Amino acid sequence: MVLPKSVKLVEVGPRDGLQNEKELVTTADKVELVNRLTNAGFQAVEAGSFVSPKWVPQMGDSADVLSQITRKDGVSYPSLTPNMRGFETAMSVGVKEVAIFGAASESFSQKNINCSIAESLERFAPIMEAAKENDVKVRGYVSCVIGCPYEGKIDSAKVAEVSKTLFDMGCYEISLGDTIGVGTPEEVKHLFEAVSKLVPIDQLAGHFHDTYGQALANIYAAMEMGISVFDSSVAGLGGCPYAKGASGNVSSEDVVYMLHGCGVKTGVDFEKLLDAGRFISNVIGRKPNSRVSNALA
Ligand code: HMG
Ligand code: MG
Repeated sequence: MVLPKSVKLVEVGPRDGLQNEKELVTTADKVELVNRLTNAGFQAVEAGSFVSPKWVPQMGDSADVLSQITRKDGVSYPSLTPNMRGFETAMSVGVKEVAIFGAASESFSQKNINCSIAESLERFAPIMEAAKENDVKVRGYVSCVIGCPYEGKIDSAKVAEVSKTLFDMGCYEISLGDTIGVGTPEEVKHLFEAVSKLVPIDQLAGHFHDTYGQALANIYAAMEMGISVFDSSVAGLGGCPYAKGASGNVSSEDVVYMLHGCGVKTGVDFEKLLDAGRFISNVIGRKPNSRVSNALA
């Protein structure tokens, strides 16, 4: 099987990574992190989340972060918007790309966004409409695509159904999230096979958490299926506050090391990425959660 020549990495550290940190990171440090990641060459940096600050306090300053970052031409800074309130705040600070986030598990949907899957899709409809009017791109997430912390195994037919609905609503890309990192490579292949029957494969992305150490293998398996967009997180920051046991996202450093080693281009400057990872790890007072970064330290 042939690997893609190049892969687009969506750097989700400033959002998925930091959202789980209990100690508040300053706005200035978040801005510095986003700028360092942009300078490292990422074409997409998920920079914030316009959710309720009561639910996710760490993301409470996203409007300031999005106002203060240095925006680079050709780079997108997607931000999460669960409802119209979040979308309107995002618009007020000039956000050009948002992400809506649904799930393939009813229980996770309730715990994460306090509504059923069907209700979440209803909430997303006006966002899609307003996004179209404002020329804003919308990325769609589906969480718990393989396993759910409350329901166990998830049927890939359900994932395909939710993905297709988000795609038909106008999302330009659907990112399939293994929120708790339980998937293994053959399951990942089966998943993309099932979903790509309903959504074109080149409009699917992989979002892997590394809880069980399977993320790199899963990315490799997804590449063999024709996927060439992956979400990763600098220094392996991350988790989801509403998914018990969801540890870090796959580390960008580990992904870039693997991809470059396989001859797959990413456009990311590896040294600058390592520096960004060490910067934010220093801020939060931990070693990077990246095998590669620590091996090279
Ligand atoms: P709710 O309580 O059902 O909604 O929350 P509500 O409309 O009744 O609002 C409750 C309070 O929140 C109100 O304030 C609202 O004003 C406020 P109060 O009257 O109590 O003072 N509020 C807001 N404030 C700021 N911005 C907003 C907003 N909306 C309401 N946009 C809601 C529903 C969705 C808002 C809530 O459940 C929420 O914020 N959840 C956060 C979920 C979240 O951020 N999860 C993590 C991201 S998803 C993820 O990590 C998975 C992913 O990485 C993929 C993967 O790994 O699988 C994407
Ligand atoms: Mg995630």
